Amino acid sequence: MTADADTAVGRDPATIDLSVDLAGTTMANPITTASGCFASGAEIDRFFDISQLGAIVTKSITIEPREGLPPPRMHETPSGMLNAIGLQNPGVDTWIERDLRWLQGKGVPVVVSIAGKSIDEFRLVAQQLVGKGGIAAIEVNLSCPNVEHRGLVFACQPGPSQAVISAVKDVADVPVFGKLTPDVTDIAEIARAVVDAGADGLSLINTTLGMAIDPETGRPRIRNTFGGLSGPAIRPMAVRAVHQVHQARPDVPIIGMGGVRTVQDVVEMVRVGATAVAIGTANFADPLVTQRLLGELRTWLADRGIASIAELRGTVQPWQ
Ligand SMILES: Cc1cc2nc3c(=O)[nH]c(=O)nc-3n(C[C@H](O)[C@H](O)[C@H](O)COP(=O)(O)O)c2cc1C
Repeated sequence: MTADADTAVGRDPATIDLSVDLAGTTMANPITTASGCFASGAEIDRFFDISQLGAIVTKSITIEPREGLPPPRMHETPSGMLNAIGLQNPGVDTWIERDLRWLQGKGVPVVVSIAGKSIDEFRLVAQQLVGKGGIAAIEVNLSCPNVEHRGLVFACQPGPSQAVISAVKDVADVPVFGKLTPDVTDIAEIARAVVDAGADGLSLINTTLGMAIDPETGRPRIRNTFGGLSGPAIRPMAVRAVHQVHQARPDVPIIGMGGVRTVQDVVEMVRVGATAVAIGTANFADPLVTQRLLGELRTWLADRGIASIAELRGTVQPWQ
């Protein structure tokens, strides 16, 4: 990192280079959205122009429309949130006509999250996206139960994760990111398997499985009994996971996420190896959080005389 030659500290924020290269796509800045927490951006665009963001990661879409799980589907916990939405989405064809068309008009890089119950379903969704334009990458949500394999989550095992990535890579005409769950013993092992299957990048982490009970009724707070835990409660897990994966495969771009809310959280993610940083749960409390972080990141770097965000990637300093 280089400090400003004239002042030794501090730079003009306007001169800071926030751009990053995400598997061949130049993002104007590293701030993006976590799947399922921003829809496709149209609602938030009423508050600020979402094309200021480095990219938009959309809600996972499936081949058929899905209504999702019955309520209650969300529950606030200390420093976090449990959710079991069940991949509610309009199906890929409606999504392309409605959401992708709108996003193409915004001109912001779009990372399309896809999901499926079987390897074939993932392949079919990816196939529908071929040649559609305006798509920077596909993010494969591997945290889906595999109906052909006792409902085990794809991302929990290297073999099934690889099979999904290979199937998507076979048809996709854009870079493919594999999104991993922290609910495994060795996330670096899954990451290596996914990259070996052809993934161009990795997204981590998805939510971690949790549960809460209403002490009065004895019923689970979430109709589905279990829900995915997100928010600041999982940030140390996310930082650990990104660090481990970056150490294992420093050449692979990572979209880092999990509880990011402040500019310090963004810097932490980049230091452990994230190329881009996605904001999820924080959007529910503050729809302007991503825009605010953009401004704060520029100032944070400028105040320290750091000329570009790219210099900060993977700069964990060892204790002597
Ligand atoms: C309400 C909600 C819905 C989500 N839906 C999806 C989804 O459709 N696909 C996916 O890959 N991740 C989904 N996630 C996980 C987030 O993208 C993200 O990985 C996770 O919440 C950790 O980031 P955060 O703590 O900033 O929210 C969802 C999370 C929440 C809270």
